[in-house]
Order: sequence, then C-alpha cells, then structure tokens
Amino acid sequence: MLMTQYGYLLMQSMHFLIKGGNISFSNDSRLAALRGGSLHLDALNIFNGGNLLRQNILQVNMTGVTGKVKFNPDGNLIHPAYDIINVIGNGIRRIGYWSNYSGLSVVPPETLYSRPPNRSSSSQKLHGVIWPGQTAQKPRGWVYPENGRHLRIAVPSRVSYCEFVSQVPGTDKFAGYCIDVFTAAINLLPYAVPYKLIPYGDGVNNPSCTELVRLITAGVYDAAIGDIAIITNRTKMVDFTQPYIESGLVVVAPVKKRNSSAWAFLQPFTGQMWSVTALFFIIVGAVVWILEHRLNDDFRGPPRRQLITILWFSFSTWFFAHRENTISTLGRFVLFIWLFVVLIINSSYTASLTSILTVQQIFSPIEGIESLISSKDPIGYQQGSFARDYLVNELGIHESRLVSLKMPEDYAKALKDGPHRGGVAAVVDERAYIELFLSARCEFSIVGQQFTKNGWGFAFPRDSPLAVDLSTAILKLSENGDLQRIHDKWLMRSACSLQGTKLEVDRLDLKSFWGLYLMCGIACLFALFINVLQMVRQFSQYNSLEVASSGRSSTSARLQTFLSFADEKEQEVKSRSKRRRLEMASYRNETMDGYSSKRQDIESPPDESPHASNEA
Ligand code: GLY
Repeated sequence: MLMTQYGYLLMQSMHFLIKGGNISFSNDSRLAALRGGSLHLDALNIFNGGNLLRQNILQVNMTGVTGKVKFNPDGNLIHPAYDIINVIGNGIRRIGYWSNYSGLSVVPPETLYSRPPNRSSSSQKLHGVIWPGQTAQKPRGWVYPENGRHLRIAVPSRVSYCEFVSQVPGTDKFAGYCIDVFTAAINLLPYAVPYKLIPYGDGVNNPSCTELVRLITAGVYDAAIGDIAIITNRTKMVDFTQPYIESGLVVVAPVKKRNSSAWAFLQPFTGQMWSVTALFFIIVGAVVWILEHRLNDDFRGPPRRQLITILWFSFSTWFFAHRENTISTLGRFVLFIWLFVVLIINSSYTASLTSILTVQQIFSPIEGIESLISSKDPIGYQQGSFARDYLVNELGIHESRLVSLKMPEDYAKALKDGPHRGGVAAVVDERAYIELFLSARCEFSIVGQQFTKNGWGFAFPRDSPLAVDLSTAILKLSENGDLQRIHDKWLMRSACSLQGTKLEVDRLDLKSFWGLYLMCGIACLFALFINVLQMVRQFSQYNSLEVASSGRSSTSARLQTFLSFADEKEQEVKSRSKRRRLEMASYRNETMDGYSSKRQDIESPPDESPHASNEA
C-alpha cells in the first residue's frame, strides 16, 4: 500500500515535469572519472531534473487512500497511518488502525492527533479477528487440515457412572473426567482443532463402545472420546491415543467380616509348618540328649525321666527357658544353631499373629475369577461393556450365566440378592467403575486379582496424526500432574474403597523357613557324626581292655558292650579303664615276678635257696 502511494506521488511529479517540458539526461563527469573499465560507466546518463523531482515530492500535500500525505523537511511522512484489515476468504474487514502517533486503535488516528500521544498497552486496541475456520480462537500455528470443517467427535451418552462422561442435561455440552482430559490434551496441541462433540447413544441405555469405534471406520464420525477401553478388537479398526487411565477387569463380590476365632493362635502357621516345627523340637531334643548323655548328669537317670527331660528341654527352648546345662562342645554348637532358628520362628509367629488379630479379616465365597468360572452361579456385567464378549469368548463362560446391569444400584441389588434369590454371585467390570461403585458401599469388595490389563484412550481413524499428537499431549498431562488433578476432581474416593480388604489370612508356610530347618538339620547330623567318631575311638580303646579282661569277642557281645559303653557316663568309663589298666599292669608284674622266681627255682635247687622254707 505504501509502494502504491509513493508510485502515485512519483507519477504526479513526473507529470508536473513533463508539463514543464524539461526532461533531459546528460553524462556525468563523475562517472567518467570512475573509469569503470569493461562496465563503461562513462556511457551512463543521469536525469537532470532529479533535484526538482525530489522537491516536488516533498511539497506534496494531499489526501491519499491512507489519509493525509505530507512530508517533513527530513523527507519523513508526517503522521503516517494505515488501516488494519482482516482478510476473510475473498472479502476484507477493517479491524482498526495503526499510526506512529497513537499506535493501534479502533478509531481513525486523525481523531487522536489533537490529544496527547498514548502508547500504553491498555490503549492499544483492535476489533476481534476472525481466523481461518471462521473461529475467533487464536491459532497456535497451522490449523488441522479439514478444509475448515469441524471434526465430528462422538461421545458416548452414558446413563451410569456419569462422572466419566455424560451430556449436561438440556444442553449440547458434555462433562466428566474423559471430557476434561480431552480438552486439556487438545489445548496442548500446537495448532487449533475445530471440533464438534456429538452424543452417541439413546440416552436410556449405556451405548456399546465397540459399535461406536466401528462407526469411525464407517466414516460416520471423525473420532470418539470417552470411556473407551483399548482392546484388541478395537485396535484392529482404529488408532488409539496413549491410555489416560488404567482400567482392567476385576471381580466384585459381597464380603463379610470374619470374627476372631478361639483358634486364631494356630493361624499364623500352616499345618505343615506346625508339624515340621514340632518334629524339629523333638529331633533337636534327642540330638542334644545324645551329645550330653555321657557327660552331663542333667541328661541321665531312669529312662522315663530322660524322655521327659528330652521333651521338656527342647520345648522350653521355644521360650528360651531351658534350665538343663549343656556342657559338651557339640551340644552347645547344636543348641546355638537351634536357638537362632527358634528366634526367627518365634518372631515370625508373633508378627503374623499380631496382624491376624488386629487387621480386619473379611471373606467371600468367591475368591477371584477362577472360583467364579468354576461355579455355576450368574455373573453380572455392565451393559454395553466389552466385558461381556471377554467373559464369553476368552473365558468360555456360557451366555446364560451373564446378567446385564445398568446402574450402580442394580449392581448392589443383584449382589445383595445373591445367586439364590435371582441376583448374581459377583460382578465383572472395569476397575475404574468398580472403584467408584465401592466408594460408597463397604459391604462389597474386589476379590482376587485384576485379570486383564487395559486402559482407556481416544479413538481416531487409522494413521490419523491427531492420535499421535494427542498421545504426546496426554503424556505431557501425566508428567505435569494435570492428569492426576483431573482424576482427583472427578473420581476422588471416599474412605471405604481405600480401606485394605484382606480376604485370606496370609499363613506362614514351610517354604519361607526350610533354609533354617536345613541349616539346623545339617548342624545336628554334623554334631552326631563327630560324637559317634569320638565314641568309636574311645570304645576301641575300652573294648581292647574289656575283651582282654572278659575274653568275650563275638559280634553280639561287642554290640552289647558298645551300647552299654554308650550309655555309661564317660567319666566312669575312663576311671574304670584306668583301674583296669592298673590291674592289668599289676597282674602283668605279678606274672612276670612268678615267671622269674620259677626260673630261679629251676636254675637253683630248693635246698640251695635261703628263702625256700619261708615261702612254703
Ligand atoms: N468402558 C467400556 C468399554 O470400553 O466397553
């Protein structure tokens, strides 16, 4: 526009010069002095009326398309001003003005020249701009290429669990967790996406999301947002964004509180664990008895007393209250290992019993999806949910067992009635709905583990760039905490669903302790082995003396001797051996004496011996 205006001025001035008949060109001596070489600058002519033309232009005082045109002595335009136009298709719309005096304004700058200049940001105003796509929303870059058409985005018109998505009654607006996530994500895109939300469903029943997704492939909708689970069947038809909430299938069933039993003290350990523990008490008692019996008077006495000692000693180690002293090294070694085992078992028992008696225990006849499949009872599912197809096609549950439920109140009634009064044994539904359902109903609980891993996403036609860009936006929302804030706004739980629900008592099993028992068993065997070696060594010494003295050497006699040896107190065996050795030594001496006197008798006749008569 500025160029056009200057062009106009130039034309005016040229016209003036032509009228004067003074247009002439001549060589310029300055150019000849430059000696341009091959450029031949000396051949150039210059316009002789240039100064006159400039003066004429500077004297212009007229009103052009942008207003008054007048120059100051420096050649600058006085009060330059422009219209600001908004081009819409083939038409234009003036939205304000710009001048170097007043800046942006919605009134012509000429009206402002009489006032003092005001360049404050509050005074800089323009009328609203209409952007491509007939929207007043400022674009954040390029616009989603739909030829100005709004995307038709379908939204399930839910009748239950409306916290996730629902149509605001009497309006064409939608509200809910899914809608807020979608709006937050789309606002993060670097371009504008003009869209229109279209309700899907009859408003009486919960619509099928699988059918909704199918309508995208049929071209009825450009996308679908809402509580749409990302499942295999659907991913074959459309592209999903990243999941914005996790929601696998769970089983919910009625639960009852378990009253504390008089036999609760037995619950910390399994039957097997109790049996092995009791067996080890007896084994350790017997091993210590074997190791101590030959040394320690506490472990001696009549057989009945010894049996009681074994049992009393071993079971009192449970409370570290054994009073019998262990004096053998091997006995002390075994007892040390055993007391360590007892310490661990004891503390585990105490901890487990405390938890059993203090944490509220609840129970349900249905313990999870396996027990639900194996029962023949009816199962509830949410109307319109993919759960029905999953139960029939993947888990092989007969359709006749499935009961469609619409509202949370229907869930509660069916569960309360139970299978025997026309209700259901359990309901299978996505965790997101069930958490909302349980938030106000403590008489039901999720039983067993979540048995599928799903999430909800927004559905777009195959290869849609929007699915990729919205996935990135959802990840951003998740990282900056907005996703959690939206979640808390719509799906805040009450205390009931947060309370820990424990269906089974976690009993301590042998597999948690077998290492300890193995260690103790090895210690016992090792100690017994060393003890037997010591006894055999002692016995071989003792036996040689016994055989020598008694003359008995049969195997049964040896075994008998060994058993009585093993039963005897070591001290007694030692002193008897000593005595016997002395006796034998004196016997040998005597024999030797007799032998030598006989030899003397033979060598010298009796009448020759001076003592012969005395000895006789
Ligand atoms: N969340 C319900 C469905 O995806 O079928």
